[in-house]
Amino acid sequence: MLALCWGGFYLAFNSGGFRQDVYNSNAVNWAGGGAQAAAPVDPKVIGKRLYTQNCVVCHQSTGLGVAGQFPPLAGSEWVLGDGKHAENHLVMLLLNGLQGPFQVKGQSYNNAMVQWKQLADDQIAAILTYIRSDWGNNAPPIDAAFVAKIRSETAAQSEPWTQAQLQAIPPVKDSAPAAAPATK
Ligand code: HEC
Repeated sequence: MLALCWGGFYLAFNSGGFRQDVYNSNAVNWAGGGAQAAAPVDPKVIGKRLYTQNCVVCHQSTGLGVAGQFPPLAGSEWVLGDGKHAENHLVMLLLNGLQGPFQVKGQSYNNAMVQWKQLADDQIAAILTYIRSDWGNNAPPIDAAFVAKIRSETAAQSEPWTQAQLQAIPPVKDSAPAAAPATK
């Protein structure tokens, strides 16, 4: 009898804690949100995992791509931004993909990239934050709210972008404060 009672207590105590957010490895936990929440995970860690799942086959774990086929992300003006290229272009090209002639670091590509709009705003923000921070890249994080804003502004675009289309759109930076994970 004692053993039975203990058994029931043990089960009730130990089976109640399975939570979707803990076991969904792709959920980005930006802010702790309560005593039971898992420890905050750095978006770069999530971003690297999503990069490995979705992007590494073409752009490679070195971020260098494959000459003539898949352009580099390391040192890319599209990833890091410069006067003409900014965060809005980076988010747009990931959401809708690309087609046709495309210049990266002075090299020409003429290939295509599928759209990634099936990924959630915080997943896209995490991937972009990651690719802006590895392989010697050092650009500020991308905020999920910025991804959401660009997604709604470009909702009418159904085709992949061409370079000419993207470059006709004025550069807009993600001016949100650095999206450091909350630590409460
Ligand atoms: C099947 C191959 C493939 C996959 C997978 C892929 N890309 Fe691309 N990506 C390309 C190609 C090809 C281009 C250039 C498109 C063109 O030539 O028109 C490109 C262009 C880019 C660019 C702009 C150019 C540059 O090099 O900076 C970025 C940024 C980018 N990809 C990021 C990503 C990210 C992030 C993922 C994962 C979510 C991803 N790509 C997945 C093939 C791929």
